[in-house]
Amino acid sequence: ANENAAPLRFPIPANVHAETVVSVTHYTDSLFSFRITRPQSFRFRSGEFVMIGLPNAEKPIFRAYSIASPAWDEELEFYSIKVPDGPLTSELQKIAPGDTILLRQKSTGTLVLDALKPGKRLWMIATGTGIAPFASLIRDPETYDKFEQVVLTNTCRGVAELQYGDQLFAAVSEDPLIGELTAGRLTYYATTTREDSPRTGRITDLISSGKLFADLGFDAFDPETDRVMICGSIDMIRDVSKLVADFGLVEGSNAAPADFVVERAFVG
Ligand code: A2P
Repeated sequence: ANENAAPLRFPIPANVHAETVVSVTHYTDSLFSFRITRPQSFRFRSGEFVMIGLPNAEKPIFRAYSIASPAWDEELEFYSIKVPDGPLTSELQKIAPGDTILLRQKSTGTLVLDALKPGKRLWMIATGTGIAPFASLIRDPETYDKFEQVVLTNTCRGVAELQYGDQLFAAVSEDPLIGELTAGRLTYYATTTREDSPRTGRITDLISSGKLFADLGFDAFDPETDRVMICGSIDMIRDVSKLVADFGLVEGSNAAPADFVVERAFVG
């Protein structure tokens, strides 16, 4: 037991798991990640989201969070923005190891391998905290069972905001087990839009101009071989979906797997 952990002032609601914060990492004034214990009974597919909350009210506020850890991990990881007056994130950003996090029992989502038809190359297009579900999927061996090549794009306003993705890619590459699967098959493509960096530009512009494909030496999206997952703001999803559809890819779902799937990056 952590003596510094905040005491529970309210009962845990029914049908909700009470889990313990294991670690917290702050990246910028507005971005942080945290890991919590995972209930033995909690099952999910890599890429899904779940509702989480804090035990700070009789009726706690819950928000959707993509699970950033892979399905095999014994802990659960989340990546979040901090909104100063956000109903959940204003408090969530203050959590420390030992604190309690509430977790609803059912996970769901469309950024799952099951919602895509078989293919050769899987593209994961992320902006901002939209990288979270891909942090799960690039660490799942099933991704590499199903696809020969995986490309993760990460676009943020500034360099500091790319840190989570940069560190994730480095850790995956160095991991003794996953690193062996990803070697030569996982490509990471990070860009900034409001600060100079080795690669700049909105992913939409980089797709439209063909620069994304030229930089990587890969052919443009082909419905025969390419599958795309998209996660970011509502505007970003709309714009990237349209571009991808222009290449002839069809949007899929759990009920009707197809060529690309989308999920909005949730905000606290
Ligand atoms: P930009 O700086 O040009 O707006 P945000 O922090 O607003 O969620 O944005 C995260 C990243 O997503 C930024 O790099 C931003 O670029 C980019 N972005 C925002 N809207 C779109 C869009 N409709 N299409 C492509 N990229 C977008």
